[in-house]
Amino acid sequence: MDKIRIVGGTPLRGVIPISGAKNAALPLMAACLLTDDKLTLCNMPYLADIVTMANLLAQHGVDLNIDGIHQGRAITLCAGHIHNLTAPYEVVRTMRASVLVLGPLLARFGAARVSLPGGCAIGTRPIDLHLKALEQMGAEIELIDGYINAKVPHRLKGTDIQFEKVSVGATENILMAACLAEGETILRNAAQEPEVADLAYCLQAMGAKIEGIGTSELRIQGVNSLHGCTYTVIADRIEAGSFAAAAAITGGDVELVGIRASLMQSVIEKFAEAGIGITETERGLRVVGTGRKIQGIDIMTAPYPGFPTDMQAQMMAMLSMAEGASMVTETIFENRYMHVPELIRMGTNINVHGSSAMIRGVSSLRGAEVMATDLRASLSLVIAALAAEGETIIHRVYHLDRGYERLEEKLAACGATIERISERATAKAEAA
Ligand code: UD1
Repeated sequence: MDKIRIVGGTPLRGVIPISGAKNAALPLMAACLLTDDKLTLCNMPYLADIVTMANLLAQHGVDLNIDGIHQGRAITLCAGHIHNLTAPYEVVRTMRASVLVLGPLLARFGAARVSLPGGCAIGTRPIDLHLKALEQMGAEIELIDGYINAKVPHRLKGTDIQFEKVSVGATENILMAACLAEGETILRNAAQEPEVADLAYCLQAMGAKIEGIGTSELRIQGVNSLHGCTYTVIADRIEAGSFAAAAAITGGDVELVGIRASLMQSVIEKFAEAGIGITETERGLRVVGTGRKIQGIDIMTAPYPGFPTDMQAQMMAMLSMAEGASMVTETIFENRYMHVPELIRMGTNINVHGSSAMIRGVSSLRGAEVMATDLRASLSLVIAALAAEGETIIHRVYHLDRGYERLEEKLAACGATIERISERATAKAEAA
């Protein structure tokens, strides 16, 4: 397995281009299943999760065409000849977002068989909300041998759905299904994340009738068919926030190009509270470490527009060197503190009590051998390593590859000492 080696202590200075958002790109790819026309998505990030979704769609029969290998690449998907309605366990278990094919397949073909996602490192993450809403729309669902077997006798029927809990994935799945349902679907307590809105705008461009985009109440008038379109994926607010935390902890000065402040207000507010200036530029955002110590702050994760759970681990790393104490409370996922024992190996002072963590700021961190445990947790280790004295080796970097495009390249361009040690190189060295 590849490792990442970082030697900390250099303030990041320079420009970082922000890639297209993984969490927008994945549902947008699934949306291709709603039409037999071509859907072209621009500004696609090149990530392991995108490849997984591409492979999943290909085995359903989607024809894929990838254009370009760097940022801004486009992918064209055509679901004109779907021959398989099963999303197999081997794929779904590696990426929970695979379940987003369920709504579109069921709405367009009247049947779908999707493996249950199973356990996940950051909590149990059930999909009951997706299934309950589809049943309300007339789907017949059975769970057999670890698979969701769903079918609908005629066509999904629009209805009034009140989600018990805010769920990004359930909102996206049902939004897509509702576009081809009969009549009106109302989604109440819908997720308002910018990635959900991005999906809704793309569906509109494909001919869907959706009102209330960006709010907690979506109204969808079903249509008989959708057509293709060309759509540009929004920038990744989590990637931008992660680099902002890295710039802040190293006392750097970085411009994040391609991101808009409006996508990440709650994060910008917390940076300001901690004494880190984030200002808008013509091309994006500028983060300047003030040279003074970061101030300890309290953070509670919440659905959008609240503070994103996907930024929790990175903020914790940043706050580990703050003046005073910080309290972080995780309200979205249980068990999302697996980065804490690894951060402690680097000299942080963190105590977890249930869903809250108390971080007492320390004056220095030291490099160590640590292990990435999930996508965002791994970035927290990178952030701490960039500020730590000496060398850090991060193991299991495949987690990073799921969601951060050209991470080493982007950080090295801002002066970081960071390199990937490939599995092959390690094996050769050990054999020598
Ligand atoms: C998406 C994001 C993920 C982010 C999360 C919360 C993608 C590909 N992933 O994940 O990065 O961390 O939103 O912002 O966009 N829940 C249920 N029943 C369900 C569905 C969800 O109880 O049927 C619970 C989950 O266990 C969790 C909470 O609802 O506690 C939120 O989950 P959800 O918003 O669905 O997360 P994902 O869509 O999986």
